[in-house]
Amino acid sequence: MAQYKTQVGIVGAGPAGLMLSHLLRLKGIHSIVLEAKSRLYCEERVRAGVLEYTSVKMLQDAGVGERLNREGLRHEGIELGLNGVRHRIPFVDLTGKCVTVYGQQEVVKDLIARRLADGGDLRFECGEISVEAFTTNRPRIFVRREGSTDEIHCDYIAGCDGFHGICRNACPEGALTIYERTYPFAWLGILAEAAPSREELVYMLHQRGFALYSMRSPRVTRLYLQCAPDESIEQWSDDRIWHELQTRLHCSDGWRPAEGRILQKSVTGMRSFVVEPLQFGRLFLAGDAAHIVPPTGAKGMNLAFADVHYLAEALGVRFGGGGTGYLERYSETCLSRIWKVQRFSWWMTTLLHRFENEAAFDHKRQIAELEYVMSSRAAATSLAENYVGLPLD
Ligand code: FAD
Ligand code: DHB
Repeated sequence: MAQYKTQVGIVGAGPAGLMLSHLLRLKGIHSIVLEAKSRLYCEERVRAGVLEYTSVKMLQDAGVGERLNREGLRHEGIELGLNGVRHRIPFVDLTGKCVTVYGQQEVVKDLIARRLADGGDLRFECGEISVEAFTTNRPRIFVRREGSTDEIHCDYIAGCDGFHGICRNACPEGALTIYERTYPFAWLGILAEAAPSREELVYMLHQRGFALYSMRSPRVTRLYLQCAPDESIEQWSDDRIWHELQTRLHCSDGWRPAEGRILQKSVTGMRSFVVEPLQFGRLFLAGDAAHIVPPTGAKGMNLAFADVHYLAEALGVRFGGGGTGYLERYSETCLSRIWKVQRFSWWMTTLLHRFENEAAFDHKRQIAELEYVMSSRAAATSLAENYVGLPLD
């Protein structure tokens, strides 16, 4: 059995694990990142695309914003649409801030490249991982692969292994409380080789369900459709997808999304999920391992960055000789922001999706709420300040 030692053992090389490893390195703290999948898989997994102002600043301040500054698309607002009529929410005008469209896989590529350039210890294709003894002061991670086992001695373990990872479930039964809500729909998402035909994102509520127009680059668009939670992707030919997108996104001013070759399609379920607390002994959960938001508010990756910001700060204080007070407050600090972001993501989701079998009253109320956001500066400001990102205090 090979033995290794590190200050922080990090499980998962998604945005949370990679960013944590980089922030720790800036504080002179050693970490080892252990990832189940290959580097290529992590770098090509198409997911989030919108970075809050707060996340952009974090990447820039951490010295990993160079390509983001060059290639990221600055968005100063979004458009909300109701049955073909769009209304712009001007973020900069309302909050002084904007968001940036830059694919999650690009953030992951940048962080991996930077960690490797800095001599970071990133281990991909790790096989089976287990976390043990985290209620003692000598936690360990075991990596079993092809008949051999590596044992990694850590001062602390960070569970950044996403919703389906092993860290959360390694905590004993009853130690964590789960708060959860599932939604009766999913998103069918596509990536298309088509130049964006609008400058900003369009979130549209249509009789047939929600549709979202987004983009990745001057040549690639990203679009989503509300669909059934158990939707089979095989039922959706490219023609059917474009027809449904054109129907739902149809606008009275004649705008329509430009079509192109579909490069990728997938169906994503929707849930709201929070685990409390985010700490058990010397195991700290961050990102999707601790919470999931429905994607309508574009918050998942951003929330992961907020968690690891707080965790890196607290570990910095601890290894700098300042004691464990910040670490002990990690969960409480994160949860205060997580619940506000959960609320916003839930609100955006209920505002913009069709709920099957809903009472006629609820549908009328939903339309009134959307019209209110489109007509009131106060309501639009509330949306805008949440969308661009709440401050990290
Ligand atoms: P992950 O990215 O899931 O990373 C966890 C890593 O751990 C993975 O690499 C995984 O392979 C690894 N792992 C899992 N199990 C193990 C194990 N046992 N051992 C070792 N490694 C393991 N968020 C936004 O902010 N904005 C958006 O616009 C947005 N849009 C989205 C659209 C879609 C279609 C989807 C699916 C998600 C979207 N999200 C969005 C959410 C966002 O992608 C996630 O919240 C984000 O990936 C969370 O990062 P993470 O590092 O916590 O987890
Ligand atoms: C994207 C994803 C989202 O969940 C969202 O709310 C906006 C944009 C995207 O992938 O571009």
